[in-house]
Amino acid sequence: MNKKTDVCGLDHVKWLDNGVRRFLQNPRKMFKPYIKEGDTVLDVGCGPGAFIPALAEMVGSSGKVIAIDLQDEMLALTRKKVASAGYTSRVTVHKCSAESLDISQQADFILTFFMMHETPDPLHLITEICHNLKPGGTFYLAEPKFHVTKSQFLDVLQICEKSGLVLINEQGIVSRTAVFRKN
Ligand SMILES: C[S@@+](CC[C@H](N)C(=O)[O-])C[C@H]1O[C@@H](n2cnc3c(N)ncnc32)[C@H](O)[C@@H]1O
Repeated sequence: MNKKTDVCGLDHVKWLDNGVRRFLQNPRKMFKPYIKEGDTVLDVGCGPGAFIPALAEMVGSSGKVIAIDLQDEMLALTRKKVASAGYTSRVTVHKCSAESLDISQQADFILTFFMMHETPDPLHLITEICHNLKPGGTFYLAEPKFHVTKSQFLDVLQICEKSGLVLINEQGIVSRTAVFRKN
């Protein structure tokens, strides 16, 4: 972690974007049950964009992926990855601030992967996620076991449920994962 800002910095990119991770946390296996062609997907805290090409493939040419992060350096890496995968027409890269996602786009699927613990105000972020999620849409939350205890994770799940999201799946094999639906 970057001590100054408490967000994961460029020095962590090698742990986030490599073949071993893509094998252990295969985006197609993890997200495919919740995404269909034509969907709009927000990846909040996309980092170097490790999952973005797979998400772009899943939504197809009629869908849209918005890769969101607050660090310019991460967004630059994501842009490069999107260009080399040939997905510039279906992926938008969006810079947010620590206080707000600054986006009005309604989404079918919102992902926060290994980022919720970096925000000082999960309630605020979850409120924004609920606002940006379409009725029937899915929120996929994954947190690293090495940074987030079971009890910290349960606290976040409680916030999600109090915000009106309905838990539809929970797992804890490689990471702590919960999937919610907005009714
Ligand atoms: C550990 S990295 C994970 C990156 C990516 N989700 C992955 O799993 O490969 C966390 C990312 O979340 C971003 N982040 C932290 N707080 C954020 C916030 N409030 N809004 C948007 N991005 C945030 C950081 O800049 C960093 O790129």
